[in-house]
Parts: sequence; structure tokens; C-alpha cells
Amino acid sequence: MLIDSYDRVVDYLRVSVTERCNFRCQYCMPEKPFSWVPKENLLTFEELFEFIKVAIDEGVKKIRITGGEPLLREDLDKFIKMIYEYEPSIDLAMTTNAFLLKGAAQRLKDAGLKRINVSIDTLKPEVAQAIAGKDVLKNVLDGVQEALQVGLKVKVNMVPMKNINADEIIDVLEYSKERGMSIRFIEYMENRFAKADVLGVKSQEILAILRQKYAFEDEGFDGASPSHYYRMKDGYRFGIIEPHEDDFCKKCNRIRLTAEGNLIPCLYFDEAMSIAESIKAGDIKGAAAVLKEVVRTKPEKNRWGTEDDEVSNRAFYETGG
Ligand code: GTP
Ligand code: 5AD
Ligand code: SF4
Repeated sequence: MLIDSYDRVVDYLRVSVTERCNFRCQYCMPEKPFSWVPKENLLTFEELFEFIKVAIDEGVKKIRITGGEPLLREDLDKFIKMIYEYEPSIDLAMTTNAFLLKGAAQRLKDAGLKRINVSIDTLKPEVAQAIAGKDVLKNVLDGVQEALQVGLKVKVNMVPMKNINADEIIDVLEYSKERGMSIRFIEYMENRFAKADVLGVKSQEILAILRQKYAFEDEGFDGASPSHYYRMKDGYRFGIIEPHEDDFCKKCNRIRLTAEGNLIPCLYFDEAMSIAESIKAGDIKGAAAVLKEVVRTKPEKNRWGTEDDEVSNRAFYETGG
């Protein structure tokens, strides 16, 4: 079992398969063009899988494929199948912007994917265009529909932003609720790569908007999920991910692997250690040692919500959130 210095069990690995993305979400991607990591620096699926086996053998029980946009990487279903066949009991999920999901959902499900989390930040085509930098809404909603049809469980993520989509909090919740998808509202996490004038909406403001229409009870946290949950009178549960709050990190159970092989102990901080060399050399013991060291050095909490230092230097497109 992997246990960090604050007695937290780390059993959740998020694996980014590419930092590339077909969207330029305002809260995530830089406005100016920038250069991607060269393709030759990416670990192959075989190499990523070698490390995943190490992590599973050390106690990881949940794996999430992320990006950038993971569906940009060819043969993703084959990679998913490798993980599934090694350990079918793994909670195997993916976070995607859903643009390329239509036509791919069945293949992913057949490969062993159990569930997906998708971003639906708006239901208005022009707002989607403003947030993502291109006309994306139809593809996203068609992709979500297909995922539901093939029987994948779907969770919706929405990042409310002032003057952009905060007025759609209820509409996106209703859209999700009607289709049996749970929704989590994510507080915008300030980072150096986002558009400069993005203004997030904090959990108390989100709750105030929802209270105008619904009655609900505070259910607190559920296991190690980062989400604070609330339940409405009719049983529907929604969540708020509030990294600016103090108790957010107490149950953190995750580490992140980038497509280049950097293992990251916390989303906020820059620190990382590479497993690329040991994996490429077939040094399984070396890779396990890096994994243990990264878990050992996992910080107690992030710095969002502190007064003087709340902009992260870490690129969300590298870690998939
Ligand atoms: P499930 O609860 O298993 O469905 O997944 P998840 O919440 O881990 O996955 P998802 O990719 O949908 O995460 C939602 C978002 O919450 C992430 O993209 C981040 O923006 C945020 N988040 C998740 N984990 C952390 C974390 O450890 N720290 C911070 N600050 N934010 C996180
Ligand atoms: N703040 C909050 N959430 C973010 N995401 C990406 N960047 C940010 C940010 N700066 C979320 C997206 C997506 C998930 C992968 O991460 O909404 O659902
Ligand atoms: Fe792409 Fe996801 Fe970042 Fe949007 S949030 S630009 S979809 S990686």
C-alpha cells in the first residue's frame, strides 16, 4: 500500500496520455501559441503500461486517463484494454472534452472503460465557442449522448466563470439531471496559463444561486472524492469541488503521471520526478522507488485560497486537471 507522510492512502493514479488539446479553454490554455512537447518525448503506451503495472502492484485501485484531450491519441482503446486485462477490477475512467467521443464510445466501453467525466460548461453554442475557442457544442453533446447510449456512466464537470457562464449553473444542472448524470461544479483554479481576466465563482456563490431554485442537504465528502456533495429533496446529488477551502486536501488520494513520464504529487505545485529513465531501461525496482518517493513527498495541501500565493505555475493541460 502507498501511504504518504500525512497518513493518506494513495490509490488513485491519473495518467495523461497527451498534453495536446483540440480546445483552448479559457481557464486552462494559454492565449498565445506555444510549442508542444515533441512527440518523441512521449512515453509509448507500452511504457506507460509498464509503469501502471508497477502502480497497481503497489496498491493503486483507480486509474483515470486524462490529457490534454486523451482521444487525440491514436489507439487509446488498445491502451485501455491493456490496463483492463491486467486488472479488471480497476476503477478505469477517463476525463474528456467529448468532442471526439461520437463514434468512439462503444469501442472504449468494449475495451474496458467503465466511466467518463466530461466538461459541459454551457449549453449555448456561442458561449461554448467563446470558452473553448471554436464551435464545439454540438459535437460535445452528441458525444455525451452516445456515451450514455452505450452504457458508460457519465459525470459532468462545469467550471462557472463570472460574466461568461455563471448564469447557466441551473440550466447545466437540469440538463445533467434529466439524463441521469451527476454534476460537479469546479471552482476555477487560478493558474499562469489561463486567460488573464477569468474570474471564478466560489462555492458559497454557487450554492446561493442553487438555493434560489432548490432545497438540498449538505452530505459532506464521500470517501476520497475531491467533491463536497449536496442532495436535493428528490434524491439527486450534485457536488462542488472547492480547492480554495481548507479541508479539500485532507483526503487526497491521488498522484498524476504526465505523458512524458513525470510523476506529480500535487496539482498545485511544480515539483515532479521522472519515471521515464527507469521504465525505458526496464528497471522496475527503480520505477517503484520513484513512485514511493513521490508519494512520500506529497504536500499536505495546495495553496489556492492562501492570500499571497494563489496562482499555480502548473499547466492543467499537462495533467488533465
Ligand atoms: P471521480 O470523482 O472519480 O469521478 O473523478 P475526479 O473528480 O478525480 O475526476 P475529474 O477529472 O472529473 O476531476 C474533476 C476536477 O477536479 C479535476 O479536473 C480538477 O480540476 C479537480 N481536481 C481533481 N483532483 C484534484 C486535486 O487533487 N486537487 C485539485 N486542486 N483539484 C482537483
Ligand atoms: N480550474 C478548474 N477546473 C479546471 N479544469 C481545467 N482547468 C481548470 C481550472 N483552471 C477542469 C475542466 C475539466 C477537468 C479536466 O479539469 O473543467 O473538467
Ligand atoms: Fe483542453 Fe481540457 Fe484544457 Fe479545455 S480544460 S483546453 S478541454 S485540456
